[in-house]
Amino acid sequence: MENLNPQREQWGSRIGFILAASGSAIGLGNLWRFPYITGKNGGAAFLFIYLIMLVVIGFSLILAELAIGRHTQRNTLGAFKKLDKRWTFVGVIGIIAGFVILSFYSIIGGWTIAYIIRSLTGAFTGDTAEVFTSLISNPWEPIVYHGIFMAMTAAIVYAGIGNGIEKASKIMMPALFVLLLIVVVRSVTLEGASKGLEFYLKPDWSQVTGSTILAAMGQVFFSLSLGMGCMITYGSYLNREENLPKSAAIIPILDTLMAFLAGLAILPAVFAFGVDPGEGPALMFITLPSIFAQMPLGSFFAFIFFVLVLLAAITSAISLLEVCSSYVIDEWEWPRKKATVVLAIVIFLLGVPSSLSQGAVSINIFGLSFLDAMDFLASNILLPAGGMLIAIFCGWSWGIKNAVDEITNRGRLSFKFAPIWGIIIKFIAPIAIFIVFLNATGVLKMILGS
Ligand code: TRP
Repeated sequence: MENLNPQREQWGSRIGFILAASGSAIGLGNLWRFPYITGKNGGAAFLFIYLIMLVVIGFSLILAELAIGRHTQRNTLGAFKKLDKRWTFVGVIGIIAGFVILSFYSIIGGWTIAYIIRSLTGAFTGDTAEVFTSLISNPWEPIVYHGIFMAMTAAIVYAGIGNGIEKASKIMMPALFVLLLIVVVRSVTLEGASKGLEFYLKPDWSQVTGSTILAAMGQVFFSLSLGMGCMITYGSYLNREENLPKSAAIIPILDTLMAFLAGLAILPAVFAFGVDPGEGPALMFITLPSIFAQMPLGSFFAFIFFVLVLLAAITSAISLLEVCSSYVIDEWEWPRKKATVVLAIVIFLLGVPSSLSQGAVSINIFGLSFLDAMDFLASNILLPAGGMLIAIFCGWSWGIKNAVDEITNRGRLSFKFAPIWGIIIKFIAPIAIFIVFLNATGVLKMILGS
């Protein structure tokens, strides 16, 4: 395969890239965040809006990001700088988002490590809500696990792209899929699960408000690793022969499949065990152990499952760290090792207040815990803003013609959707994101005077 830039690392193979990019997309966003956000936002109607957002905005933007990345062969910030200096700030937003997301992502990753250990010691036989609360309200324990999670993530990024990221993704993705299927079967056959199925699959439109739509949009961005240049960075390691439209379709499909299955595993159990679906970030951690407790060889399955959740989280976390470190490596000319270690330490420190805010100390911002506030800031503000700007940049500054040229490998591939894609990127995506944003923040109401 042609390597345009021999100094720059590239993916070892096509499947390696697909797995690594899906590895970035599939993570805690699917297994932990999607079920609880769906639960909080009324179930099936949310799922439906999510799917629409995914098809229209998710697919178009992932393609735009991959094209920008492969064309420039740069990190997020470098890519904008190369194409049009005035847009460099979009890269800055992306890197800030990466920092913020990884700081709380690593806390949840740490909880997963704690759960792996607890599944070995048989802690999940009693009150699983109590197990969870006592973990997260402990001032030290989650921070220690958060440190371990960051260290594992940094170790892989430290080892470099092909070596670390590709190998890790190749094994865990299929394994996770199979195990998730087993858990789904147990969950939907629990007594009382049918209420949960109805909640998840039968839309109740009265639940939908502006903030439901913002939440769905935020989840699309979060789950597909969009809006911060993560896919620009991953695209930059691609060679010129890769079929971008195909990759841009496969990644969202795999990602959505995993999220859908996670919802199907968790939400029926929520109803079967009488947990509140609006419970929030705790949802997965409270219901899953109860499901495992109802399975033969439960603690064995629990152990394997949480190991796989951890691996899925790590393949996503490395992509977040990679965005930040590839910037520092390319632009500040730091060696990879130094960049990775320094960034990991800074992000670890930023995560500490998120961890403490879960019960040890009360740290609230606008009525949200510090962790939830960081999540809201990143997922519902920085990522959509970044995504909107990336779409505007791609449609108006770089130009649809240049982008399509890149997407079709200079006309050698056919891309039937090019005209629709161009319209979405130039008009629909930026406008839709803007309206959803104004609507959810109440600004639209103020303007319309109602
Ligand atoms: N998409 C990942 C998940 O679902 C999280 C993630 C990785 C991410 N890289 C990202 C989210 C970049 C936003 C932007 O768990």
